[in-house]
Amino acid sequence: MKRIAVITSGGDAPGMNAALRAAVLKGINAGCQVFGVKKGYQGLISGEIVELNSFAVSEILHRGGTILYSTRCPEFKKEQGMQKAQAHLKRFGIEGLVIIGGDGSFRGALDLNKMGFATIGIPATIDNDISGTELSLGFDTAINSALEAINKIRDTATSHERVYVVEVMGRNTGFIAVYAGLAGAADAILVPEVEPDLNEVVYRIKNATAKGRGHSIVVVAEGLFGDPMSGRATAESSAFKVGNYVHEKTGKDTRITILGHLQRGGSPSATDRILGTRFGAKAVEELLAGATEKMIGWNKNMITVSPLRDALGGRNQVDLSLLDLADILAVT
Ligand code: ADP
Ligand code: F6P
Repeated sequence: MKRIAVITSGGDAPGMNAALRAAVLKGINAGCQVFGVKKGYQGLISGEIVELNSFAVSEILHRGGTILYSTRCPEFKKEQGMQKAQAHLKRFGIEGLVIIGGDGSFRGALDLNKMGFATIGIPATIDNDISGTELSLGFDTAINSALEAINKIRDTATSHERVYVVEVMGRNTGFIAVYAGLAGAADAILVPEVEPDLNEVVYRIKNATAKGRGHSIVVVAEGLFGDPMSGRATAESSAFKVGNYVHEKTGKDTRITILGHLQRGGSPSATDRILGTRFGAKAVEELLAGATEKMIGWNKNMITVSPLRDALGGRNQVDLSLLDLADILAVT
């Protein structure tokens, strides 16, 4: 295989550039021509495909987002879109692709496979919900960004003896909420995986106040009550619903902070840079060894290779015992 391409697709995640850089440099080192597809699957349909040399991927390791751009592209799910993509890939003589994205992007990868192209997936989403890998690219940076915000909010919460309800992302999962909440010593962490007990939250806040601590931090996952508002502040946002209830029952000055997309951007942490680098290099190694329909992952402290289909069977589950631990530590 002499011509391969890299795509970043779906929601961007810190570390995507690290994976891209490693894939390109590993490919060039192995004597391949490496191409970048712009704007996710949309670029496959419109033929926005460019050759990448080592200069094109220099100075990107520390950058969040993706220099290839990313989209959510419904047209790719249709037969016509797929055929256009196939025609462009053939025109460029591309035989294999590294697809950096989430499970939606991996479904697209399986379709490309059916058309005869080799595909290797790299899991990248701040939600960390992709099955078959303990870590997805971007999660570590996202929880650190959320934690930094919680630390700042704690200063004001303490100074003004307020309750802050902080909403974090995660779509329908509570990974970011559990990890950022535990690291940020939240008084309560509410996630979609567990039926919320708002009266328990109220009890903890009242109890803390009675014992002389005027402030409280409650971390809420955006998907707590169903489909998330995804960073949009509306009356339907989980944080508003929780905040209104808490204010009504405690009478305390209660403020809402929706962290939104600040969790998606930002310079990747060391963990995401290293993970992205190892994922990118391994993906190309597998592709050049003739593998296809595989996902690179991180399990038990090792880089793993598993069938791409396994990533679509379920969701990576957050360890809910961490919530029990957070509950014990939250006692005032
Ligand atoms: P993520 O990859 O982060 O899960 P999306 O679910 O938005 O993000 O998927 C990214 C893109 O993958 C979609 O915009 C679409 O182009 C493609 N895709 C998603 N689902 C499918 C599918 N069932 N078949 C083919 N392509 C798909
Ligand atoms: O999947 C990553 C994510 O940031 C989710 O946490 C969030 O619900 C969603 O994407 C937001 O998507 P968009 O930026 O397309 O609104």
